[in-house]
Amino acid sequence: MQDEPGRMYEPRQDATSPILFMAREPECLLIGGYWPELMLTVLDFLNRAGFIVDVLSIHAGFKKHRLVRQHVLARDDASFLAAATDMIRHPYALVVPCDDPTLGRIMRSGLTDAQKSVLLPVMSSDDFIHIYSKIGLSQILRKHGIPTPDFRAARDRHELEAAIRELGYPVFVKIDASSGGLGIFEATHDAEARALAGGIAPYPVLVQKRVPGVTVSMEAFYRQGRLVHFAYSMQQGRTSEFGPTSIRRYVPRAGLEQGVFEQLDALGGALGADGFVNIGSIRSDIDGDLYFFEADMRPNLWINHPRHFGDDPAGAIRQCFSTGTHFDPPCPPVSGDTLLPHALRLGATDLMLNRHQVWRYLPSDFVYITLRYRIGAGVVAAMAKLYKRLLPRPYRKAVKRCLASLGFNR
Ligand SMILES: Nc1ncnc2c1ncn2[C@@H]1O[C@H](COP(=O)(O)OP(=O)(O)O)[C@@H](O)[C@H]1O
Ligand SMILES: [Mg+2]
Repeated sequence: MQDEPGRMYEPRQDATSPILFMAREPECLLIGGYWPELMLTVLDFLNRAGFIVDVLSIHAGFKKHRLVRQHVLARDDASFLAAATDMIRHPYALVVPCDDPTLGRIMRSGLTDAQKSVLLPVMSSDDFIHIYSKIGLSQILRKHGIPTPDFRAARDRHELEAAIRELGYPVFVKIDASSGGLGIFEATHDAEARALAGGIAPYPVLVQKRVPGVTVSMEAFYRQGRLVHFAYSMQQGRTSEFGPTSIRRYVPRAGLEQGVFEQLDALGGALGADGFVNIGSIRSDIDGDLYFFEADMRPNLWINHPRHFGDDPAGAIRQCFSTGTHFDPPCPPVSGDTLLPHALRLGATDLMLNRHQVWRYLPSDFVYITLRYRIGAGVVAAMAKLYKRLLPRPYRKAVKRCLASLGFNR
């Protein structure tokens, strides 16, 4: 796969004709590109699930991908939304927004509710409130009686301090639309709370009681609010204190209590989920119950991992779309837990030393991703630093102008 510019979005002359493809396999529109590593992972997954995939992306790197039927490149907000509106006139069986910035972009856009409903993995515009919003999610969970840590929404520093007083320490203060642990702060005493109240932005923020326990992740897929598949794992290692998980212990669904299935069914209904959901919860040390605090309406980097213990979600999703019925997921015939590392989340030393047997679980595009996004990005960043050091600002402008006149400005 090469990283060359894809077809830039241009409105079609015949604005009423949908994309002219007839296919027997279900067709999927994958949109995003802010997180290319995830997009490549999802592309591989969707292919195994039997979909023909078109891509609308802000990233040029997908144009020549062997699994992409049609690629549309959109460089800015306006062309992205225009292309999305245009493409969804084709009756895709599934539309997958692949990252949080894309969910946010669609939510903030001036598209109609009907257009947003097609682009977002929910059943109707009544289900928008929780999309890329931690406050909205907490409110929905509470409204539907799904256990979630006690919380308050705070619009300014006074409300934040009052909320912390009500909830008591320890609490998490979370930026409403944030991901990767980057907008999560813990307060354990007054000085920390005061510093947070003065420094955190933007408001409103979610103030949430910390639940002591083990973080449990569930990658689920719903169709029309009904559960199709899920994988259940406990966090064993992560990239930073509140960052994404790097090692997980998967528990086969046969080993789970019935309550988990019931809660996930209820969650799908509460969210109006119609697609991938990345669910986060805590198994409380106090009462042993699950408390849900996260439901990102997108896939994550772990979606391919359950196939390593014989429970490939792609198979369940393929069956769901081919038979047209909701699929009652069988429990994989595995006994015992499975410890799985994620190669894209481990450090270079762990990778080289094959810690946790990571070589057995490399993602399919691992070499490309490593060269293009790890080593390649590192080299580009180092060159940019050197360039800035060697060339003072006024000269940089002149070089930019010169490159632009030669046609290198895209
Ligand atoms: N209420 C909570 N109680 C205990 N731990 C929590 C709570 N909220 C978040 N965490 C921990 O912090 C991590 C990051 O929080 P999360 O809300 O998932 O942020 P992000 O959306 O940035 O991933 C979680 O994976 C979990 O381990
Ligand atoms: Mg999280």
